Amino acid sequence: MISTEKGSWLTPAIKSQAEQLLSRMTLEDKVGQMTQYDWGFNPINPETGVSQRDLLREEIRLGRVGSIFNLSGAEEANELQQLIQDNTELRIPLLIGRDVIHGYKTVFPIPLAQASAWNPELARKTAEAASRESMADGVAWVFAPMIDVSRDPRWGRIAESIGEDPLLTSDYAKAWVEGAQVDDGPGLAAASCPKHFAGYGLAEAGRDYNTVDLSDRVLREVILPPFKEAVESGALSIMASFNEINGVPVCANPYLLKTILRGEWGFEGIVASDYNALQELITHGVAGSEEEACERTVLAGCDMDMHSGIFIRHLPKLVREGRVPESVIDQSVLRILAVKIKLGLIEKPFVEAVAPEAAAVARAGFTELAREAARESIVLLRNENSLLPLSKDGQSIAVIGPLADNSKDPLGCWAFDGKPEDVVSMLAGIRQAAGASAIQFAEGCAIADASEEGFAQALEAARQADVVVMALGESLEMSGESRSRTSLDLPGAQRRLVEEIAALGKPVVAVLLSGRPLALPWLEEYADAIVQAWHLGVQSGSGIADVLFGDYNPGGRLPVTFPHNIGQVPIYYYRKKTGRPPAGVYSSYYIDSTTEPLYPFGYGLSYTTFSYGPVVTSRTTMKADGVLVAYVMLENTGCREGEEVVQCYVRDEVASVTQPLKKLIGYQKVKLAPGESAVVSFSIGAKELAILDGDMNWTVEPGDFTLWIGPNASQGESVSIKVER
Ligand code: BGC
Repeated sequence: MISTEKGSWLTPAIKSQAEQLLSRMTLEDKVGQMTQYDWGFNPINPETGVSQRDLLREEIRLGRVGSIFNLSGAEEANELQQLIQDNTELRIPLLIGRDVIHGYKTVFPIPLAQASAWNPELARKTAEAASRESMADGVAWVFAPMIDVSRDPRWGRIAESIGEDPLLTSDYAKAWVEGAQVDDGPGLAAASCPKHFAGYGLAEAGRDYNTVDLSDRVLREVILPPFKEAVESGALSIMASFNEINGVPVCANPYLLKTILRGEWGFEGIVASDYNALQELITHGVAGSEEEACERTVLAGCDMDMHSGIFIRHLPKLVREGRVPESVIDQSVLRILAVKIKLGLIEKPFVEAVAPEAAAVARAGFTELAREAARESIVLLRNENSLLPLSKDGQSIAVIGPLADNSKDPLGCWAFDGKPEDVVSMLAGIRQAAGASAIQFAEGCAIADASEEGFAQALEAARQADVVVMALGESLEMSGESRSRTSLDLPGAQRRLVEEIAALGKPVVAVLLSGRPLALPWLEEYADAIVQAWHLGVQSGSGIADVLFGDYNPGGRLPVTFPHNIGQVPIYYYRKKTGRPPAGVYSSYYIDSTTEPLYPFGYGLSYTTFSYGPVVTSRTTMKADGVLVAYVMLENTGCREGEEVVQCYVRDEVASVTQPLKKLIGYQKVKLAPGESAVVSFSIGAKELAILDGDMNWTVEPGDFTLWIGPNASQGESVSIKVER
C-alpha cells in the first residue's frame, strides 16, 4: 500500500490504477520495472558480434526493462515504446530519462551561472523550457536539478551546482523541480530527479567520487534542506548519491533512504540509484557479491537500479528464497507505476511529431530566454575607472584569447544535445554589438597548451587597439563529472599571455569563461575590469556583449566564495568562529596567506552604485515564536538603472552548539532608477532564527542575535536583536 496524503501528487485514482496493474504482474515483470539501462552504452561483444543494444531490445520485448536513458531522439523513443506495445502483455511504457542539466537542445547557462542571477524564477523558466524540449523527444524524466551544496572549487561538479549556500540552493531546488515538472494538461508531464542525495558535493579534497565524511549536524543543517525543499515541491523521483554516509554508500543506506527520506519527509516518488552504483558496492567493499549488493540495496529502500542489471539478475531469486519480502518489491513497483501514470505515459506512450513551424517558434522563444539567462548570470568582479561599459562607436577593440572565437566550450559540461553551431561565440557577440568599432581578433594561445607561438599576433592586434578584451578560462571538459582539478589558475599559457598584453599599457578587460571559481588574485594587477561569465550556453556571446557594451547592467552575484589560492579551499562564508578566530600566531590563520576570500559569497558590482542606510528593526526584542521586520533604505546613487541583490544574514551570538559566523536568511533583487530609493524589508521569525540544537531539533534559543543587511557576506550594516525567554 502507498499512502495518499492530502495535497500529494499521488491521488487515489493514480494509486488504484497502479495497484490494479501490479495485481496482474509476475515477479519478473515487477523486477523489470525496477531496471534501467543506459542506451548510449553500446559495446559489441567481440565473440558473438552482438551489440548491447540488440541485447537490450530483447530484454525490452521480454518486459524486463522499466526505464531507458540516453536515447537519441523521438524516433528511437517511439521505436522502443513500440517494442513494449507489440510484445508485452501489460504494455507498461518505458520511462525515458536523460541528463537534462541546463537545457536540452537550447543550452542555457550552467547551473552555477544561473545561480549567480540570484533569481530562482529564471531557473524555473529555463527548467520548464528544457523539459518541453526534451519531452518532444520522448524524454519525460530529467535527471535534474543537481542540488548538492558545493564548497570546493576543485570538484568539477561545482559547475552543476547552485553553489555553497543551503537557502539559495533550496530556493533554486523548488523553482527547478516545479519548472522541470511541467504539466501539459491532458498531455504528457515530466518528472524531475533532484540529485545526488546526499553529501556528494563534500568529496574529500574535491576529488570526484572520493570518500565523504560528514557529521549528522552538517548533513541536516547544510546538505539536506535543498532536498527537503525539492521533496516538498513535489519531486517525483530522487537520485541516491555514489558516496558513503557514515560508512554506507547511499543506495544501500537505510538511514538516508528510509529514516529520513521516506520516514521523516514522507517521500512517495522513485528512488533511483546512480550509474552502476549497485555494482560499486562490491568495489567499495561493502558487498561481497552481486546478490549481497542487490539485497542490501533493495532492503535499504532503493527502487530502481541504474544500469548495473543486478536487480534483474538476482532479485527474483532473492524473493523466492525469502531473503527479500515480495512486499518490498511491490512498494517499489507501485511507486514506479504511479509516476508513469502521473506522467500520462500509460495513455500516451508515443511522442507525436511537432510541425516544423511550431517547433521553430518554440525554439526562437527558448533562444530569447537563453540570452536573458546568459546576461543575468554574469558577475562583474572589477571595474577600475569605470572602464566598462565600452562604447560601441569609434574605438578599436582587440578581442584576444582562446575562448573568444570559440563556440564549443561555452556549452559547458553536460550539454549532450547542444550543438556548437547554435552557439554565439564571444567574438561573434562582440562583432554583432560593436557597431562602428573596429574589431581585431587573435587567439593568442590555446586553452591548455603551453605554446606561446600565437603571442606575437595577439600583441600586434592589441597594439593597434584602444582597448583589449580577453576571453580566458577553461574548456568544457575541465568541469563536470570526474573533472576535478588541483589548480585553480588559468591553464596553459593564458597567464603569460595576459602579462604580455597588459605590459602594452592598454586598458584590459578580462572575461572569464569557466565552470568553477578560479583563484586569480594576480589578475587584478593586469586587468582593469574582470567579468565572470562562466559557461553561458547558446547565447553566451550575445549575453557577454550585452554586458560589455552596457545594453544590460550586470546584476549577478557570486553563489560561491572565490579563494585567493587553493590552500584556502574549502573556503565558504557559512563558517564557524572556532575558539581562536584569525588574529596572528596561535590563532586559526595561515602564516603565508590571508584567511579572507578574494571575492566573498554574494559579491558583484554594477555600472551604477548603491548606498545602504542603517538597519532598523520593528522591535529590538521578540519571543521565540514571534516575528520582527528588519528594514534598510537602499538608494541608487549612480547614473544608470541597476539591480542590487540585497542580502540578509544572521548570527546567533551564544547558542548551545557552535553557530556559523553568518547565515543567509533572505535576499531580494531590487531594480532602481538613478536617484531612486526603496525600503527593503525582511521578516524574521522562527524559520530564520532556528538552530539545530544538541538533540538535533530545530529550536529558537533565547539570547542575542546579530542581523546584517548588505551587498555580500563580507559587508553590510548590522543591528542587534534579542529573543526573550
Ligand atoms: C552521474 C549522474 C547522472 C548519471 C546518468 C552518473 O555518473 O553521477 O549525475 O545522472 O550518471 O548519466
